[in-house]
Amino acid sequence: MVILSLPTKMSSNTVFITRKAHFNAAHRLFRADWSEEQNDSMFGKCANQNWHGHNFDLYVTVKGTPNPDTGFLFDFKKLKQIMETEVVEKLDHKNLNMDVDFLQGKMPSVEILVMEIWKLLEPKLDGCQLHCVKLYETPNNYAEYFG
Ligand code: NI
Repeated sequence: MVILSLPTKMSSNTVFITRKAHFNAAHRLFRADWSEEQNDSMFGKCANQNWHGHNFDLYVTVKGTPNPDTGFLFDFKKLKQIMETEVVEKLDHKNLNMDVDFLQGKMPSVEILVMEIWKLLEPKLDGCQLHCVKLYETPNNYAEYFG
């Protein structure tokens, strides 16, 4: 008879923390090389020629091992500050098509936004790892990016 020993379940030291931020911004989704009908058909209300706004909710999740001395894996105050400086101040109350340098020539869809926000945050996070950028464009629609 063979007695199998089951592997002991190892618990991980990795913890994820998430900070939320909010911003309002205007945009228009359209392609200049498409007709108005094509744009309306693809982008719907987001193709409105006179712009429209969204209330964006941004969730940034970082991961790491909590420091045994502080119990913190990354200081929430620092994460808040980085999100404010790197993202909210650059996007809040802006026209995403016209006012934002790093979005020039890009489609300001929620999918593109999460990838661009990742690029802004990733180099600023020392001592933890960026895990997820999640952005709600409406209460029902969001995009997530994991790098
Ligand atoms: Ni829209």
